[in-house]
Amino acid sequence: MPKKYTVTPWEVSGEIDYGRLIKEFGVKPLDDKILNRLEKHTGNLHYFLKRKIFFAHTYFDAILEQAEKGSEFYLYTGRAPSGPVHLGHLVPWMFCKWLQDNFDANLLFQIPDEEKFLFNEKLTFDDTKKWADENILDIIAVGFNPKKTRIFLDTEYAKTMYRHACAVAKKITFSTVKSTFGFTDSNNLGEIFYTSMQSVPAFLPTILEGKPTYCLIPCAIDQQPHFFLTNDVAPKLGYPKPATILARFLPGLQGMHHEGKMSSSAEQTTIWATDTAEKVRSKIMKYAFSGGKETIEAHRKHGGNPDIDIPYQYLTYFLEDSDRLKQIYNDYRSGKMLTGELKGFTAETISKFLREHQAKREKAKGMAEKFMLRD
Ligand code: TRP
Repeated sequence: MPKKYTVTPWEVSGEIDYGRLIKEFGVKPLDDKILNRLEKHTGNLHYFLKRKIFFAHTYFDAILEQAEKGSEFYLYTGRAPSGPVHLGHLVPWMFCKWLQDNFDANLLFQIPDEEKFLFNEKLTFDDTKKWADENILDIIAVGFNPKKTRIFLDTEYAKTMYRHACAVAKKITFSTVKSTFGFTDSNNLGEIFYTSMQSVPAFLPTILEGKPTYCLIPCAIDQQPHFFLTNDVAPKLGYPKPATILARFLPGLQGMHHEGKMSSSAEQTTIWATDTAEKVRSKIMKYAFSGGKETIEAHRKHGGNPDIDIPYQYLTYFLEDSDRLKQIYNDYRSGKMLTGELKGFTAETISKFLREHQAKREKAKGMAEKFMLRD
């Protein structure tokens, strides 16, 4: 029986088979050929690429072709402001920064406050504004270039965006939206329209530059259904098709079998960007799903399974040193390294990462205005 999982922009659950997802979505794997082509430009590959954390794409070849011609392209990503930022959110943003630095690219960062207002019964626009202000600190802390990065809330940049969103909406039927997202007659009107607002920033490079300008969207693969629609519409409106470069999900603390990704819904599954070192440590010790054996004796004898072990999996995202990572893999497999040791090391690694993030987040206070785009 094939495993059951769900990946949509609104729900990620189950044990995700990423190989199968590539086929089901009709996206392309980031294979050695395209990675080599990228490396020719950057001189190195981010460890997210080497470890297949970013693992798939659409039209990324077209972006490389632009770069090879010496033409500029834009980056575009986003964050819906429904709560605090957690570790999983930071992954695509870190990669986005790497791309910005390596290609000296402009970045458009969308904060679709209306998305969360429309899709979440409880959230008010006061709530989304509060979370947007908080989230923007985390975004700035990632280190984007203030000269080349523009952040905007949809409700604050709507005067520019709205007419382009209408142009997109005019080309997408209700039945397409229904079949793409599984919407029913009880979805509200705003939800049905929303994908047009998420499409517009993919066309803004051309609109803002006044000439055809390509756009690359780094994001987690759950956002791809929106961009399939964006791609259909692009040639009809005379824009280049936007490209996507797609990440897998950081699993929640309770493991890859438990939930599809780290989510904002439960303390036991989530490490927040603002967690203290003690918090990180106690969450990992208490909740992190372990691939270790029941007893120390059994573990020493048979070894653990890093492939399902959450602390090990987190190291693949947050420990850059690949030699060290390999050593840990082998030591855990052989039983030389114990579960407690692995958990302790992962807690330290993540705390160190977060300490640096939090210091930059503090510095970001008062800097938001340098980044904001408004009508
Ligand atoms: N819909 C995304 C979310 O729920 C936010 C978003 C808007 C986004 N535009 C994007 C994400 C572009 C990635 C790329 O968080």
